[in-house]
Amino acid sequence: MGDTPQTARLEIADQQEDLPFVGSTAGNSGVAVTSLLKDTGYVTVDPGFMNTASCSSDITFIDGDKGILRYRGYPIEQLAEHSSYLEVAYLLIHGHLPTAAEFDAFSSRISRHMLLQEDFRGLLAQMPRSAHPMAVLGAAIQTMTAFYPESIDPMNPAAVELAAGLLLAKMPTIISAIYRRASGYAMLYPKKGEGYIENFARMTFARPGEDPDLPPALIKAIDTLLILHADHEQNCSTSTVRIVGSAHANLYASIAAGVAALSGPLHGGANEAVLNMLAEIRDSGRDVKTFMKRVKNKEPGVRLMGFGHRVYKNYDPRAAIVKAHAHELLDALGVKDELLDIAMEVEGIALADDYFISRKLYPNVDFYTGIIYRAMGFPSSMFTPMFAFGRLPGWIAQWREMMADPQTKIARPRQIYVGPTARDYVPIEDR
Ligand code: ACO
Repeated sequence: MGDTPQTARLEIADQQEDLPFVGSTAGNSGVAVTSLLKDTGYVTVDPGFMNTASCSSDITFIDGDKGILRYRGYPIEQLAEHSSYLEVAYLLIHGHLPTAAEFDAFSSRISRHMLLQEDFRGLLAQMPRSAHPMAVLGAAIQTMTAFYPESIDPMNPAAVELAAGLLLAKMPTIISAIYRRASGYAMLYPKKGEGYIENFARMTFARPGEDPDLPPALIKAIDTLLILHADHEQNCSTSTVRIVGSAHANLYASIAAGVAALSGPLHGGANEAVLNMLAEIRDSGRDVKTFMKRVKNKEPGVRLMGFGHRVYKNYDPRAAIVKAHAHELLDALGVKDELLDIAMEVEGIALADDYFISRKLYPNVDFYTGIIYRAMGFPSSMFTPMFAFGRLPGWIAQWREMMADPQTKIARPRQIYVGPTARDYVPIEDR
């Protein structure tokens, strides 16, 4: 490739503009266009930010062509095998793997704060049981602004540290409470001395009058799925968190906005959509071929959910990890699921079909995660809240990085105006 040039020259009308390069340690470098409007009167146009880096970041690296994902340099495969969700949260937020003492302090602080105040529980209990869990989750996180005002100043590092800890501590309790309310069971309390994931699993799955059955495979699977979702650089919800935070909205408000973005079926909502799609195929008498024809004919509203990704043009490494463990986990939980067989059949057909090959469409993380959450006993409406639970440390880390970056400005894109030019107001009787 030779030496990286220092500038890129853009010729625009009769002007020449030298645009500085922005270097990277891995992956694509950039060309800064910040001065283009001031110097030339032109803006760049990039719907969906297909070609726009909104920031420099040292948190997560993705090579979409090679199917590589690393948090702070560590490959996702190693973290999924050897680390834990809380350790990954520390890594993402603080930038290094914790020492034993650092981890102890971090996890004990989180354990201490897992309890929800009665008034907060009361608020969750006022939500309609039929509400979508993502609606309740977004509201609950925004509500933390009201309950913990001492932690909302975005310019106060101690307040931000507290907010990050409270979010990580309350999230499992909130999600289990949402699930139990929707299922008609009483909300449970966290137990002192019980592990973070164990607490979550017990608060979620314990049935009245029964000893909870929480096999180690279940605890490990929850932990692994949360690790896989923990960050994914500048995706839609993370960019939302950064954009809202760039206005100096507090961490809770920014993350509540991220939850809203994640609820969309083209983003975090895809795992729920995958299950609905697989169930539809099963109910049609497992007619996979007809379904695939409808996808390829681009019938309105018909996409192969869980396939395709803006960045991965190869197998999503997270999907590979989930797929590799899917059968083993279902066996450990004693669950047989026809939908897993249908998913594998769909994947096999897609990966051999020119429509998908030519567009580089591969399974993404959502393709198999729903099947695992279902095997654990979650209804499909809980899949996206579990994604949000996993993504929380990434949102926190990205928000903090954005706030600490001296280059950060309030996010405020430009537009190309294509509406009417100036015209005079017409009184209503003359229209
Ligand atoms: N099924 C069928 N065709 C698809 C799919 C799919 N899942 N995804 C993309 N395509 C086709 C498009 O129709 C388009 O075809 P064309 O070139 O003939 O017009 C081409 O592939 C490129 O697709 P775009 O929509 O332009 O790709 P984009 O990067 O904008 O979208 C996205 C990425 C939203 C993830 C898309 O692949 C999709 O809708 N997938 C299904 C939903 C999904 O699984 N989302 C989860 C994403 S991962 C996550 O958020 C955790």
